[in-house]
Amino acid sequence: MSPDDSELMFELFERTPRQGPGSVESTRRALALLPREMRLERVLDLGCGSGASTLVLAAGTKAQITAVDRHAPFLATLRANAERQGLAARITTLVADMQDVAALGADFDLAWAEGSAYSIGFENALRRWRALLRPAGCLVVSELVWFTGRPSARARERFAIDYPDMCHETTRIEHAREAGYTPLGSFRLPASDWRTYYAGVRSALRDAIALHGERELYAALQRECELYDACGDEYGYVCLVLQSPGEAA
Ligand SMILES: C[S@@+](CC[C@H](N)C(=O)[O-])C[C@H]1O[C@@H](n2cnc3c(N)ncnc32)[C@H](O)[C@@H]1O
Repeated sequence: MSPDDSELMFELFERTPRQGPGSVESTRRALALLPREMRLERVLDLGCGSGASTLVLAAGTKAQITAVDRHAPFLATLRANAERQGLAARITTLVADMQDVAALGADFDLAWAEGSAYSIGFENALRRWRALLRPAGCLVVSELVWFTGRPSARARERFAIDYPDMCHETTRIEHAREAGYTPLGSFRLPASDWRTYYAGVRSALRDAIALHGERELYAALQRECELYDACGDEYGYVCLVLQSPGEAA
């Protein structure tokens, strides 16, 4: 039986250093926007993939981190890298659905979600994840947005198909307020985060095509890379640092 598209997609992203745009520098920049002196003992990394952000969080804090993903092989890579970097004692991996907040626990100081919220719907994610946080706990989330109010027809048409939930960065911040959070800060991921990410995707695509031949799934990823080359100044990821209501204990 030949592998289906979702198996091929996971296989391809098992070969990339990370599964979404981001970088060590961007993760550190977001960490630096958290309130000074904030208690950071229990942290969740939601949709962590192979754990590019998890390792930075572990190195940059003293917290115990639970790294959650539904794809077990990504977590195996994270555990191996954490061992190599001497960080394994503070990282627990959990194969789980990040929507299932009852299974994830509660009272976390910080929840982190780089490039993963979209997969369960951004607004749905923000509302559900409130239950994971202690009073005045924080959520850091990066999400695809328009940087322009007048995107080109090419970009608009592509996202109308690929991501109809796309909206302007100011609307995303409004969504965060409506979900009950106070925005503490935000920044756009730099173009270098995208270039590095797509270099990894392009390299994994070459390997995948050599292994399995041309497929529509690979052509779609190729189109995604090309759209960014042509229109990448019109859209990108905004990283939001948000605080849930309440007084810290
Ligand atoms: C775009 S990747 C981002 C991965 C990682 N945060 C990064 O920046 O490299 C999204 C990740 O979310 C995971 N994911 C998607 N839906 C999920 C769900 N419902 N529960 C748990 N993980 C999920 C995917 O397996 C994937 O690893």
